Amino acid sequence: MKDSFERDINYLRISITDLCNLRCKYCMPEDGINKINHENVLTFEEIYEISKNLVSLGITKIRITGGEPLVRNGIVELVRKISSLDKVKDLSMTTNGILLKKYAKDLKEAGLDRVNISLDTLNEEKYKDITRTGNLKDVLDGIEEAKKVGLNPIKINVVLIDGFNINEIEDFVYITQAEKIDVRFIELMPIGEGLNWNKNSYLSGNIVLEKVKELVKVESEDISSPATYYKLPNGKGRVGIISPMSCKFCSNCNRLRLTSQGKLKLCLHSDEEIDLRKSLRDGEDLKKVIREAILKKPEEHQLEKGVYTNKSMFQIGG
Ligand code: GTP
Ligand code: 5AD
Ligand code: SF4
Repeated sequence: MKDSFERDINYLRISITDLCNLRCKYCMPEDGINKINHENVLTFEEIYEISKNLVSLGITKIRITGGEPLVRNGIVELVRKISSLDKVKDLSMTTNGILLKKYAKDLKEAGLDRVNISLDTLNEEKYKDITRTGNLKDVLDGIEEAKKVGLNPIKINVVLIDGFNINEIEDFVYITQAEKIDVRFIELMPIGEGLNWNKNSYLSGNIVLEKVKELVKVESEDISSPATYYKLPNGKGRVGIISPMSCKFCSNCNRLRLTSQGKLKLCLHSDEEIDLRKSLRDGEDLKKVIREAILKKPEEHQLEKGVYTNKSMFQIGG
């Protein structure tokens, strides 16, 4: 399925819940969020129905996100249903990893191909500080379990935060020396709680290249990936830099997002949404609604002009 700028739209990110078991300072308010009324949240059957329609129109890559996707009951069965869609060639999840030790084996068996895990520090106290509630050991155990059951390739997402993890950049990079794990550094974006945080905590992705001079650029097979990839000499894994602030990768964007309330988002940074929940519940022709929606996908974000989304990251899923 092509949008008005001839971009091939083949990647769907589904946020299945706004809830999370952590409270990362740049993402969630300290007291968490109110639960959304049950009837406003898509059921798993509805998520499946919408996904099926999107897949029939050309989606081949699906990522399940949140909030934290593993806190929603029945997640393994949802993965099983989505993985049964023939044309889905890459089914992945973005998770904070806390519950991965418990679920990795079942997720793999249900058809999940791989996981991206959010981890901003390798220090126990700092992890507790940034997530307000989490234990580092749970995530590390989760990563080990994911490796064991073959949820590969594993990617670790590190949000760059000034005054917090700048001194850990080398430690994260050197994980990729011995392990076939990709570590990706993400520039902090002015979204939700990140809007306030951003002012003092933003760091450009270039800092990684300044700190680790031996990194060499490698071509990525996926031109739509927001990450630019590098490698250490003889490194087994890759080091990625995701720079939504300092560079734009909109011209290769292949993404759509579905929120837990059934809104189709055309761009991470735009509040233009199409209410697929309503269309589905009203019995409208979903394919027609989606085809028309795609044509409204904006050419690029307008962050540099100060146009930000009113939504928070936990509502969009990254
Ligand atoms: P892979 O398929 O493994 O490459 O994953 P991914 O990078 O698509 O997914 P992930 O959830 O790990 O995303 C990492 C981060 O990339 C997100 O949290 C965002 O910060 C950023 N990102 C992903 N898509 C977009 C996008 O369309 N626009 C912007 N500005 N940032 C994005
Ligand atoms: N800026 C950049 N990345 C963010 N994430 C959450 N909030 C922000 C933000 N304001 C990251 C998470 C996760 C990914 C989906 O998005 O840490 O790795
Ligand atoms: Fe939860 Fe991810 Fe937000 Fe942290 S960044 S609070 S893990 S949704």
